[in-house]
This record gives sequence, structure tokens and C-alpha cells, in this order.
Amino acid sequence: MTFFWSSWITILSIMCWAGILGVLLMVLKYKPEVEEDGTTGHTYDGIQEYDKPLPKWWLVIFFGSIIWAVAYWIFFPGIFPSKWEGITTVEVDGKTVPWTSHNELNSELESNNKVFTDNFEQNILAKADASGATKTLATLSEMQATMRHSEKPPAELQAQIDEKVAELAPYVEKLAENPNALKVGSRLFLQNCAVCHGSNAKGATGYPNLTDNDWLYGGEAANILTTLHNGRVGGMTAWRDQIGEDGVRAVSEYVLSISGNQPGYELDKAKVTQGEAIFNEPTNCVLCHGPDAKGMTSTGAPNLTDKVWLYGGDRETIRETIRYGRAGVMPEWETKLGNERIMLLAAYVYSLSDRSAQPAKAKTVSAPAPQAATTATATAETTAAK
Ligand code: HEC
Ligand code: HEC
Repeated sequence: MTFFWSSWITILSIMCWAGILGVLLMVLKYKPEVEEDGTTGHTYDGIQEYDKPLPKWWLVIFFGSIIWAVAYWIFFPGIFPSKWEGITTVEVDGKTVPWTSHNELNSELESNNKVFTDNFEQNILAKADASGATKTLATLSEMQATMRHSEKPPAELQAQIDEKVAELAPYVEKLAENPNALKVGSRLFLQNCAVCHGSNAKGATGYPNLTDNDWLYGGEAANILTTLHNGRVGGMTAWRDQIGEDGVRAVSEYVLSISGNQPGYELDKAKVTQGEAIFNEPTNCVLCHGPDAKGMTSTGAPNLTDKVWLYGGDRETIRETIRYGRAGVMPEWETKLGNERIMLLAAYVYSLSDRSAQPAKAKTVSAPAPQAATTATATAETTAAK
């Protein structure tokens, strides 16, 4: 509240209060002349008026509420809130801070979160044989508190936080095999992520499918954790100003020619050749999509040679993407959900991914069969958890 409005309200309240007090004092002082029978002599409709003191209970309540109000002003920032903070305090982030509704909310969120965290450590981490994460989580949340409280946090702090987040990856993999953790993860997913990625996590135009093992930013537990903690913004630049509409059409034709789902198109061969040259200029498309156009998780640029499309693989949509650019936004969740819930969500997403889909990229190429089996069990558990 600005100083003007807080003063305005304070002055109005004090005036009201002083007015009522004045009337009361006036009434207390006023002594009417009383007749012999104890009445004031006023009679109305057969009712006579006496001069009796105000009832005690009423006075007690009246003065009691005045004392209450004054005490309230001392304890809370009610009077000139921008100048007087009140003497009540709450604990936020282990620090004692003056009471404000905002601080009180944070303090309550913290204590609720503490209940969740304790439960998480005892009933989920411990049972999934992942208690080792506890220490990392504690260091991580200390670092995040430092980040929140310092106005100019040290430059390397964010990098250190990112490193700590990545250290949680092995525990996320363990959680991904624990039915109970996946159950909580799937609920969190429905509450927070289904709006964009769909309740089955299969995504929609502009919102990636999380079950297909085709990743913009990488499908390892550490990649998923980073995506959830910091959020992502897809940076596909607009190209029409640089290469002209003719260039856009040529390079679209080239993308059509390399993509995996274009049997129905009559391709314009000359344009394909022209487009390939544009694509491979070192500062153009190759820079992000890679020399083989198979995408790069470091830039978030998708593989353009497969059948999976984020925005659409028909000629007009590809042209539109290249002409005007795209910038899909994945929000950050660190400040909204906290490290523990993010671990559960990452485990859930990790468990959804069909790791058998692209054996060439899978971790154990030599032994695809057992891996497919684990994935199948994880998926079955997830389904059971739902
Ligand atoms: C407001 C919509 C929105 C919400 C809510 C949302 N996401 Fe996303 N998410 C996106 C978009 C858009 C992208 C793709 C970003 C891009 O285009 O670069 C994405 C990307 C991702 C990726 C990376 C996929 C890849 O291929 O690398 C993961 C993992 C992910 N989201 C998980 C989640 C989880 C878990 C939640 C819930 C906590 C969530 N998302 C909530 C919109 C959303
Ligand atoms: C600066 C890096 C960068 C450059 C350069 C770049 N792209 Fe992209 N491209 C991306 C990213 C990131 C996305 C995903 C956008 C999103 O997630 O919202 C993307 C998306 C696309 C898509 C959409 C794919 C789909 O699944 O719908 C096409 C097509 C595409 N790029 C083609 C090109 C072509 C052709 C060029 C060169 C003219 C090019 N890109 C240059 C980063 C880049």
C-alpha cells in the first residue's frame, strides 16, 4: 500500500474512533435533572425515561474493544503500515521477519512443505533406497535460499545450483522404479503438467510428447531435472528477413525432402538443392539442428529427419515455422513446486519415456531385450499407479 492510502485509512479510522470516544465522554459528563420519582420526566407512549448508568457488560465490551484496537496497532502493521511494522514476527527461511500477510503465507507454506519433505524422506526416498539424496537436497535448498536472499548473487552460484540438481539424477532413476513414488508423481503431473502436455503426457501441437523417447533437451534424468528446475524456451529464429520468402520456400522443400513422413509430396528438386545449400551455411540451420539435421539437445532444436513434429510436418506449417520462427515456453517449476516434488515429477516423466523406441540411442545397445523388459515393468507400474 502506498503511504498516501495507508495514511488516508489510518486518519479516517482514528477520526472515527476519536468521534465515538468523544460522544461517550460527553454522555458520561451529562447529568440530567431528575424528578423526585427518579425519572427524567420524559414519557412516551406510556414509557418513562430514567437516568440509569450504562450496563457494565456493555462498557466492558466497549472499552475492551478500544484496548484491543490499540494492542492490535502495536502488534501488527495496522497504523501507517509503511512506517510501523508491528512487533509480531514470523519465521521465513530460518530468519525472523516482521509480520505481513505475505510473510505469514510463506511461513505457513514452509511449515506445510516441511511436513511434505519429512514424509518424502521417510516414506519415499528411504523406501526407494535413495536416502543418499537427502544430503544433496539439503545443500541445494541452502544454495537456493542464498540465491533468493542476495540482491547480487555470485555469478557462479546458478552454475553450482545446476550442478547440484544434476547430482540428484541417480536418485530420480531409483524413484522411477518405485511404484509409490510414481503414483505421487503421476498425481503431481495431472495437477501441474496435464494442461499443456495432456493427461497421458502425449502432448499436442507445440507441446512435446513426453512418452516417445524423442527429446528436445535430452531424456536422461539429469536433462529432465534441468528442464523442470529452470524451464526452457525454444529459440527457433524467424528467417524471412534473412533469406527472403524464396529462401524460406527452398529450405522448407529441403526439410520436406529429409523428413520421414513425406511420401505424398511432389518435391521441387531445384528448390531442394537450393535449400540444402542454405541449410548448411555454417551460421544457418546447421548451427542448431546439427549437420545431419538430427537435432541437438544443447540448443533444443528438434530432429528434422524423423516423423515426430512439434508444430507440424506439412509443407505450409514448415514454411510458417521457418518464416516466423517459434518459441515454445516450458515454465520453470523450482519456485513453484520445490526440489522434492520436481524429483517425483522427473521420475514419473523418466518412467514414461519409451526407451526401447530408438535402440540406436539407448544406453545399452548390446542388450536391448532386458532393457525393454524393465521399461515394460515401469510402464505397467505406472498404469497400475493410476
Ligand atoms: C504452459 C504449458 C506447459 C506446462 C504447464 C508444462 N509444460 Fe513442459 N513444456 C512445455 C513446452 C511448450 C515445452 C517445449 C519447450 C520448447 O518448445 O522448447 C515443454 C517441454 C517439456 C519437457 C522437455 C521435453 C523434451 O523433449 O526435451 C519436459 C520434460 C516437460 N516439458 C515436462 C513438464 C512437466 C513435468 C510439467 C509439469 C510440472 C510441465 N512440463 C508443464 C509446456 C508446458
Ligand atoms: C538458433 C538455433 C536455430 C536455428 C539457427 C534454426 N533453428 Fe529451427 N528450431 C530451433 C529450435 C530451438 C526449434 C524448436 C522450437 C520450439 O521448441 O518452440 C526449432 C524448430 C524448427 C522446426 C519445427 C520442427 C517441428 O518439429 O515442428 C523446423 C521445421 C525448423 N526448426 C527448421 C529450421 C530451418 C530450416 C532453419 C534454417 C533456416 C532453422 N530451423 C534454424 C532452433 C534453430
